[in-house]
Amino acid sequence: MSALDPVAVIAAKRDGGRLPDETIRWLFDAYLAGQVAEEQMAALLMAIVWRGMEPAELAAWTGAMIDSGVRLDLSGIGRPTVDKHSTGGVGDKISLILVPLVAALGAAVPQLSGRGLGHTGGTLDKLESIPGWRADLPLSEVRASLAELGGVICAASADLAPADRRLYALRDVTATVESIPLIASSIMSKKIAEGTEALLLDVKVGSGAFMTELGAARRLAETMIALGEAHGVRTAALLTAMDTPLGEAAGNAVEVAESLEVLSGRGPADVRALVVAEAEVMLRLAGIDADPAAALDDGRALAKWRELIGRQGGDPDAPLPAGRELAVVTAPASGYVTRLDARAVGVAAWRLGAGRARPGDSVSATAGVLCVAKPGAEVEKGAPVLRLVGDDPSRVDAALDALRGAIGIGPELPPPAPLVIESLG
Ligand code: URA
Repeated sequence: MSALDPVAVIAAKRDGGRLPDETIRWLFDAYLAGQVAEEQMAALLMAIVWRGMEPAELAAWTGAMIDSGVRLDLSGIGRPTVDKHSTGGVGDKISLILVPLVAALGAAVPQLSGRGLGHTGGTLDKLESIPGWRADLPLSEVRASLAELGGVICAASADLAPADRRLYALRDVTATVESIPLIASSIMSKKIAEGTEALLLDVKVGSGAFMTELGAARRLAETMIALGEAHGVRTAALLTAMDTPLGEAAGNAVEVAESLEVLSGRGPADVRALVVAEAEVMLRLAGIDADPAAALDDGRALAKWRELIGRQGGDPDAPLPAGRELAVVTAPASGYVTRLDARAVGVAAWRLGAGRARPGDSVSATAGVLCVAKPGAEVEKGAPVLRLVGDDPSRVDAALDALRGAIGIGPELPPPAPLVIESLG
């Protein structure tokens, strides 16, 4: 194949071939320079969806995405760097707690994030419900925060893996998002470019996750671990359950409030357990011997939260915006809650205004769903299971529509479902 012929590159992948490293490099350079058309890249992406990529081919593809922008050098900050990435779930406020916790124990956590899209919330959207807090930081402040406080949660700048922004927008409108090599290279190019030495991946499995099947989630995790290792980042993964929302709150300010509870040594047991499990892996990856549960209980994690929020203009003592109760969903029968569907709760929170339908939409700080009774709880018919909160009553009907059939009630206590399903890497 001629290295300068996009049609030949598409045909080679269409027929199941492996793209040579130099062809991949040329392709990205030409695409970003406007010499490969969007429709040609779209055709190639669809060929990749069908034909997949070999491990070395995918490592080269990911390398080209990283090299489309800058790779941060965090070597001078004087602490081991370790980050975490979640593939996204409902009520997933783990990063809000984990970053200050791991930072308080001596690592530096460069959590450069994107915003939420669809039914899974975004860490930045949640933090922006804190009065004054700002997500956009110049690189000099990212570095300073990491060196002085051991952490930062901020928006990833436009020069980190810019090829991913272009490809992701194209995948979004060409039905080419659902491909393990394309998802893995998209996530890992951004994480590797941010300069972390080590990375924990929280790959969610279940109705509220990207991956609803355990086998596909495991393949995604293994593919991302291999990409991390190929690019010099120590990478581990936990496969974790996402059939029911994490904790009791799904939304923005309501999730910040719940995170503060966990940072204060209280809060829902599932959120605390997952935070501690993830912190243990991150500390191991960073070579730090410390007890994360103790740092939640003795105030060190909360003190670090206050420093991190304050540094980015947030007032940790300001009251969080609160919505009104807009509707209550009650138990359709007496018995045990056997099921509370994560996706339905996520879509309801999204429709209430907590999430966005298109990049650039604004989100409501107050909208959300509070899960009053979760699987395992015993309820009487008519007792509250979900409370819908926010400011815009016109959104309630659409949210209630999403929740039809979301609650299962049975006569017997359901068996406890493990939160951490598998540990890899
Ligand atoms: N998240 C990403 O960043 N990229 C994907 O392709 C999917 C999820």
